[in-house]
Amino acid sequence: MAITISVGSGKGGTGKSMVLSNLALQLARSGRKVCLVDLDLGGPDAHILYGLFKPKRTLTDFLNRRVDSITDTIHTFPAFGGLQIIPGTGDTLQTANMTYQQKQRLLRSLSRIDTDVLLVDVGAGTSYHTLDFFMFTDIQICVTSPEPTAILDFYNFLQLATIRRALSSFLSQADVAKEIREKKFDSLLEVLDMAEEVQPGAREKAQLALATFNPLLIVNKVGAGTRLNLLKLRKMASQYLGIYLPDLGEIPYDMKVYEAMRAYLPVSELDPAAPASKALIEASIKLGKVIDLFIRKQSEQQTIQENEKQL
Ligand SMILES: Nc1ncnc2c1ncn2[C@@H]1O[C@H](COP(=O)(O)OP(=O)(O)O)[C@@H](O)[C@H]1O
Ligand SMILES: [Mg+2]
Repeated sequence: MAITISVGSGKGGTGKSMVLSNLALQLARSGRKVCLVDLDLGGPDAHILYGLFKPKRTLTDFLNRRVDSITDTIHTFPAFGGLQIIPGTGDTLQTANMTYQQKQRLLRSLSRIDTDVLLVDVGAGTSYHTLDFFMFTDIQICVTSPEPTAILDFYNFLQLATIRRALSSFLSQADVAKEIREKKFDSLLEVLDMAEEVQPGAREKAQLALATFNPLLIVNKVGAGTRLNLLKLRKMASQYLGIYLPDLGEIPYDMKVYEAMRAYLPVSELDPAAPASKALIEASIKLGKVIDLFIRKQSEQQTIQENEKQL
């Protein structure tokens, strides 16, 4: 089964597509089977970053049932280590017309894709669907840039993601699920208090769920004097949300990135020695280790479960 990884951020333009196109390419080059899915509604441009301008099929063909299987929308790049992508089209995730059934069908189909690593770009923002797709995966990556406005949006994104994680840890058992699901919460504390009221013991359950929510952080477009903002962000995340953000990498602001975009190539392909490329390659190696660790833990858990069954 594929390891699923989502990439999100609070704000558009932080460099999600850029980072993801490089991580996907490097993971594919290191010998893994990788499929990149573009669920970004704001700027579905993953295919363009690899020089594919007119994809024959996109995710919309699947959602509108013009093709039977999601695999019919996969495009393979033999020149990029066999990397596969499912191009988005911009209106695919439009919240208004994506029904619950469509979403379930999409999630089911995504988890059945035959690949080692499934990377999902969920786009920017905090819409219901964005957060749902972000939380659906095994591993989460957040991309932010270090400007104060991006950090603020990122904190807001993290807070809403955390609230959703806490809610989903006990909502499935609660009778009042619908009422709570539709309520708007302002803080995590409020959710935890409410959880305990609805179901004694739910606070602890939610806190446990949050302990395993450790989105990996990539800070992109890093320049001089950005350290302070990042320290503040980490402190706020730990103090108010109780979550720890492991560091996946800091990517410097680099004009080579702009050049690479104009050449329709990931920067790590165009110039592996550029500062941004070096940082991206390092981040992909780190991500590879996180993936291997996840696989090891998963198989250990399976062994434990099998042993328990035999007892
Ligand atoms: N490290 C970087 N250095 C310089 N420019 C960058 C860097 N990362 C991204 N950019 C530029 O920022 C813009 C937004 O990047 P993009 O990946 O499309 O963001 P997002 O997908 O988050 O909206 C692009 O024009 C891209 O070239
Ligand atoms: Mg993008």
